[in-house]
Amino acid sequence: MIEFLGHAFLNPGDEVITFQYAFIIYKLLATAFAARTIELPTPNFQQDLGATTDAITPKTRLIFIPNPNNPTGTLISQHAIDSFMSRIPKNIVVVFDEAYFEFLDDPPDALRYVREGRNVVVLRTFSKIHGLAGLRIGYGVATADFVEILHKTRQPFNVNSIAQAGALAALEDDAHLRETKRVVDEGRAYLQEQFSEMQIPFVPGVANFVMVNVGDGFAVFEKMLRRKIIVRPLKGYGLPEWVRITVGTMQENKRLIVALKQIMHAQ
Ligand SMILES: Cc1ncc(COP(=O)(O)O)c(C=O)c1O
Repeated sequence: MIEFLGHAFLNPGDEVITFQYAFIIYKLLATAFAARTIELPTPNFQQDLGATTDAITPKTRLIFIPNPNNPTGTLISQHAIDSFMSRIPKNIVVVFDEAYFEFLDDPPDALRYVREGRNVVVLRTFSKIHGLAGLRIGYGVATADFVEILHKTRQPFNVNSIAQAGALAALEDDAHLRETKRVVDEGRAYLQEQFSEMQIPFVPGVANFVMVNVGDGFAVFEKMLRRKIIVRPLKGYGLPEWVRITVGTMQENKRLIVALKQIMHAQ
C-alpha cells in the first residue's frame, strides 16, 4: 500500500513529510521516487503534529503518520490528530499508518476523516497482531475515488488466494486477538519494569515492542544474536545507542532479560 502511494502521488522533487524516527520505509519510498523527505523534530521521541503546518510547501504531496510509531512505540492522541486535520490543506494526502492499531486500549479514530471524504488513507496490516507477516497482506481504507487511484497502481491479483483466506480467517478470530493482546500487555509491562530496575532508559510504548537505550545498540544486537535472540539495532534511524525489543512469550521475555543483564554487566 505504501508503495502504491508513491506510484500514485510522487514525482521527482516532490516532498514527503514524516517524523524524525518514523518507520524508515517512508523515507526509502521517497528516495525511490526521487522525492525529498522532510522530517519533523521529535523531542523526547513524542511525535509532535504541531510542527507539520510549518513544514508544508507547494511541493508537499504525502504526510505519513505512523500511529503508534515503529520503533518508538509512541502514540498520537485523538485531540492532536483532530487539531492537525483542521489545519491541513485538503489537497494533501494524509496517511495514517495503523500497523499496531489492534494493540491499543483506546485507539484514536482516524477513519472518521475517510468518512468525511478527506484525502486520507488509513493503513492496517495482518502482519502484527494477527501474526501473518509471511502472507504479505494488509489493507488501506480511503474514499472510493481515492481507492480508484490506488487501484491503477497495483498489479491485478496482487494478493494471492492463500493470503486472502488467511486474512479472512484472522478477521473472525477474536480469541487470537484477545489472547495476543493480553500476552503483549503483560510482557511489555514486565519488560518495562525490568528495564526500570536495571536503570536502562526506555521509551514507554503502546505497541508490541519497547525501545531501549543499551549504550551500543549494534554491539548488544550482535551479542544477543550469539545467544539466539534477535533484537533490532537502530543505527539506521540515527539511534545508535538504542535497540527495539519485541515482546515475546513470558518465557522468551525472561530469557531476554537474563541475557541482557549478562551482556550489560560485561560491558
Ligand atoms: C509502522 C509500520 N507500518 C507498516 C509496516 C509494514 O508491515 P507489513 O508490510 O508486514 O504489513 C510495519 C512493519 O514493520 C510498521 O512498523
